[in-house]
Amino acid sequence: MKTLVAYYSRSGNNRYLAEVLAEKLNAKILEIKPAVNLLFFQILFTACKFGKTVRFPADADNTYDLLVIAAPLWMGSFANPVRAFLKKYANRFSCIACATCCGSGETDKDSAFGYEKAFADIRSTAGERCIASLALSTSLLVSEDKKTDEAALMAARLDSSTFSNEIDTRIQEFVNSITEKAGH
Ligand SMILES: Cc1cc2nc3c(=O)[nH]c(=O)nc-3n(C[C@H](O)[C@H](O)[C@H](O)COP(=O)(O)O)c2cc1C
Repeated sequence: MKTLVAYYSRSGNNRYLAEVLAEKLNAKILEIKPAVNLLFFQILFTACKFGKTVRFPADADNTYDLLVIAAPLWMGSFANPVRAFLKKYANRFSCIACATCCGSGETDKDSAFGYEKAFADIRSTAGERCIASLALSTSLLVSEDKKTDEAALMAARLDSSTFSNEIDTRIQEFVNSITEKAGH
């Protein structure tokens, strides 16, 4: 099964996550590039659920079966470029899986800004083609005493220095689930 890992990232967390996923899945990696990439506009577009054009590389036209998305959550949704990308290209893929390194965690996952709402949003676009989801909270990247420190959580970065066995296990379980369900 030919796999594309498409990511959007402002501060690098989801780029790192996408790179790990692409390596584990032996997939091609693609950065989602919105037509307008100014943070203010992207946050505004996310809040308004406004679809803005993103580009799909010509060499990837209709050749992939599985799409894995990695992107941040903003205000309870996947960042706007990802939603625009899915709206435009989701039906080219027979299976979709989504992953995020985000601020919310197990305790607030069902809140207005929690990751469950964002995953439900993707499922409403992709339906049964959405086969797996993974949320890695930025609280996994900080020490025990910083887990409720908002500033520390916003500044936390997923990289080789914060990558832990727990994160690796969670990513591997996600990859195994994709492999099993998509026959990768
Ligand atoms: C403007 C803004 C809004 C955010 N809203 C949410 C949210 O609603 N839910 C959440 O779980 N995380 C939220 N976050 C946290 C980001 O998802 C998190 O910092 C993410 O790891 C950043 O990813 P990146 O480094 O790939 O850009 C928000 C961050 C920003 C900057």
